[in-house]
Amino acid sequence: MSETIKVLISEEEVNKRIREVATQISKDYEGKQIHLICVLKGGVFFTCELAKRLTVPVSMDFMAVSSYGDSMQSSGNIVIKKDLDESIEGKDVLLVEDIIDSGNTLSRLIPELLKRNPNSFKVCTLLDKPDRREKQVDVSYTCFEVPDEFVVGYGLDYAQKYRNLAYIGVVTKE
Ligand code: IMP
Ligand code: MG
Repeated sequence: MSETIKVLISEEEVNKRIREVATQISKDYEGKQIHLICVLKGGVFFTCELAKRLTVPVSMDFMAVSSYGDSMQSSGNIVIKKDLDESIEGKDVLLVEDIIDSGNTLSRLIPELLKRNPNSFKVCTLLDKPDRREKQVDVSYTCFEVPDEFVVGYGLDYAQKYRNLAYIGVVTKE
């Protein structure tokens, strides 16, 4: 079976929207320092692009959580594969995700992080697939809502491929 990728959101549209969201976040956090938590690996491109456009001071940490294998279906298993290097106690945390799909990953991760006593905690996601939600997640910043299709690019993979695409595409199999 061969795969083809159709453009869903162009590079220009993604960049424009990230700029808008960064402007909003910079306003909301004026006078504060944002502690960005990037959820690896999918969140890495978005985190970097967002961070570059924030005008308030930023610190960053990284975390890896697995929820999908090399398939298009959720395994239902969520495991913290790499924890944060630093404490988040007293920090204004902004968790950065690539996509919120079922909500299973964040509904497990958020309570774990809140136990560590951040000063504030918000979620920012590049993409949201609301049709697939199983667990409610409180998301403060969403760049785009996408339909119930498997998307790749801008950090998102299919079987570890396509993360490096500069746009968001939909995978179709023929
Ligand atoms: P959840 O279903 O909200 O727990 O989604 C967990 C993770 O699955 C996301 O952070 C992505 O890394 C991955 N994921 C969900 N939907 C897609 C997709 O359409 N393309 C690529 N990865 C996805
Ligand atoms: Mg992710």
